[in-house]
Amino acid sequence: MEQQKTDTPAILGGKPAVTLPQDEANRWPILTEEDERAVVEVMRSGNITTHPIARELENDYAEFTGRRFALSHNNGTSALMAAFFAIDLQPGDEVIVPTATFWASVIPMLWLGAVPVFCECEEERLGLCPADVEAKITDKTKAIVIVHLWGLPSKMTELQAIAAKHGLKIIEDASHAHGAKWRGKPCGALGDISVFSLQGDKLAPGGEGGVFLCDDEAYLERAMCMGDMMRMLELQTPAMRFAGTTFGIKTRIAPVSAAIARVQLRHLAKRNARRNENLVYLSEALESLGFHTYLGPEHVERVYFEFLVRHNEAATGLPLDWLIEALAAEGCEVQRPRYPLLHQQPLFTEGAWQQIARLPEGAPVREYRPEDLPRTQTGNELIFKLPSFPNADRSLLDQYIVAFQKVVTNAETISAAKG
Ligand SMILES: Cc1ncc(COP(=O)(O)O)c(C=O)c1O
Repeated sequence: MEQQKTDTPAILGGKPAVTLPQDEANRWPILTEEDERAVVEVMRSGNITTHPIARELENDYAEFTGRRFALSHNNGTSALMAAFFAIDLQPGDEVIVPTATFWASVIPMLWLGAVPVFCECEEERLGLCPADVEAKITDKTKAIVIVHLWGLPSKMTELQAIAAKHGLKIIEDASHAHGAKWRGKPCGALGDISVFSLQGDKLAPGGEGGVFLCDDEAYLERAMCMGDMMRMLELQTPAMRFAGTTFGIKTRIAPVSAAIARVQLRHLAKRNARRNENLVYLSEALESLGFHTYLGPEHVERVYFEFLVRHNEAATGLPLDWLIEALAAEGCEVQRPRYPLLHQQPLFTEGAWQQIARLPEGAPVREYRPEDLPRTQTGNELIFKLPSFPNADRSLLDQYIVAFQKVVTNAETISAAKG
């Protein structure tokens, strides 16, 4: 592909580099007749509430991750709630969590009175920074929530060692990482309890749905007590006596969602491979222009829930806002990442979280300040998002590469025009 150094950037009146249609290339989820047949089969059975397909989905996930137990849920948020309940978090217990994640990785714990302790992300893989985790451990710390952000496995060697040293539980939120591996082990098998969301954007979606995974039967029992009356009835333990009331929440999956999720899981490896092939190709081109694309170290097999790129103004010569504007003018779909940092949200900065957590009288109240995690904030400000190209051909990727080349090689002219 010839580098078009002399082409006028579209932002300065030139022709856009990206002209191919993008809707199909970026369409997600991919739903086919196979999904339709699976849904219709459930509907025709007449049992759209307690259909055994939920159990089949659990078997699939247990096999996929190598875990002993799986319990399906109506969404990932309730699977996370079950995880926090299963490890028996008590009012005032502290849990170390990332701030750069979807709220569901953190907020459910408030209902148990647990206190999130937000931690810096490291720059290499955007997971929890092990040094900051260790610095934030107190005698109240009970657990760590690890999120493999955007599909890139976190620094598990260090994080598992810290958890073992301090006797902390690991809740693994693998909602972005269906099919990713760390040292050959699947994400979903790296926590005391692991959770996947099956929400419609995810890599193996069911529309709405979640999966709770563990190896310890006691965790499974507590998750069933919290949210699944029918499964409690099957318990061979004294907890079965609570089946008449449950613990008050109902979280089982709708069988129609389970049907879609099973089909999607069967296609996961092939569809991940397509995304990876496209995004590694694009990443290599962007790296050569001075961007960081989070390819991950060798012992990690990442997947791409979303494709994030870190900008380096020194290499491109453009501030990020101008870069984004210039790329958008070229026809690129380019955005800022969509998660706000949690510790900066009014729920925390205005203290409203205490209305949920209701800490015991006299318990010390943690304050959250927007400036608390400067490294994560600075890092987050450098990141932008491109499509994950689940169905794209090389021709579209090549047009994106030309767009980047045009913008970067014309950075000076663009800056002069903007300035
Ligand atoms: C990291 C992460 N955790 C948890 C969830 C919550 O899952 P759900 O939307 O299925 O409740 C999501 C996304 O939706 C997520 O992105």
